[in-house]
Amino acid sequence: MMELRDVTKTYDQGRRTVQAVRGVSLRIVGGEFVSIMGPSGSGKSTVLHLLGALDTPSSGAALFDGRDLRAMSDRERSHLRRTRIGFIFQFFNLLPTLKGGENVALPLLLAGKSRGEARKLAEASLERVGLSDRIDHFPEEMSGGEMQRVAIARALVTNPEAVLCDEPTGNLDSVTSEEILTLLRGLPESGRCAVVMVTHDAYSASYADRIVHIRDGRIESEVRKHNIGARGQESGIKDQESRETVQDTGIAPSRAASVRPDA
Ligand SMILES: Nc1ncnc2c1ncn2[C@@H]1O[C@H](COP(=O)(O)OP(=O)(O)OP(=O)(O)O)[C@@H](O)[C@H]1O
Ligand SMILES: [Mg+2]
Repeated sequence: MMELRDVTKTYDQGRRTVQAVRGVSLRIVGGEFVSIMGPSGSGKSTVLHLLGALDTPSSGAALFDGRDLRAMSDRERSHLRRTRIGFIFQFFNLLPTLKGGENVALPLLLAGKSRGEARKLAEASLERVGLSDRIDHFPEEMSGGEMQRVAIARALVTNPEAVLCDEPTGNLDSVTSEEILTLLRGLPESGRCAVVMVTHDAYSASYADRIVHIRDGRIESEVRKHNIGARGQESGIKDQESRETVQDTGIAPSRAASVRPDA
């Protein structure tokens, strides 16, 4: 449903240009949970932005549901992002002057829904993340984990086909992180929603079905895990044994064993 075909992305930084992405091909299908890992500056966020139509390639093609993003106008791309993709960021990006419910309702209001309907759907979305009781609280009255759950509710309120997350637990303690990861893990299982999550952390990445390692703007390796679904979680994805059920995709055999907490 989302695809990059031999994509490059070059940024002008004053006098110099930076090649943030140097020929990445990646396909995400509905119902899949993919993690993107790699060192700082390796191009992870850029790849996520290209997948989510927040940015367009310098060369190569980025497709959403088979449609080339370059063939769309800015308006169409923005409509696509608002209605079919949810975004979750490290620092939550909630509007401080809006209450929880209003933050969640915002994408619907922007998409032209009535206040009443937006409020109703926002309530349902907050309920889905277990936060019905924060609908009338401002972000500053919430914990980090609560703010991130509101951000997830906001990302889900349009019932998107894809949820893209950039370091969603980067600012949370480990217990709260687990709650958020469990919530994200549940999304593909309860529908065809695809989740793509950028993370530095191998433990967080281990929640995914597939881990893509990026280095210097290229895909260095890709590992696919089997038996990691909802039941995989329950049966202890945390322990070393299940980490070693990581199976090579055949793309880079030498990296198959590198999905460890220290990787
Ligand atoms: N809007 C931009 N303008 C100019 N350069 C940019 C822009 N966005 C990213 N870059 C550059 O592209 C490269 C890749 O950046 P990117 O943000 O994708 O890395 P990252 O892997 O997400 O890093 P981090 O883990 O630190 O978030 C970096 O050298 C960065 O400075
Ligand atoms: Mg980044």
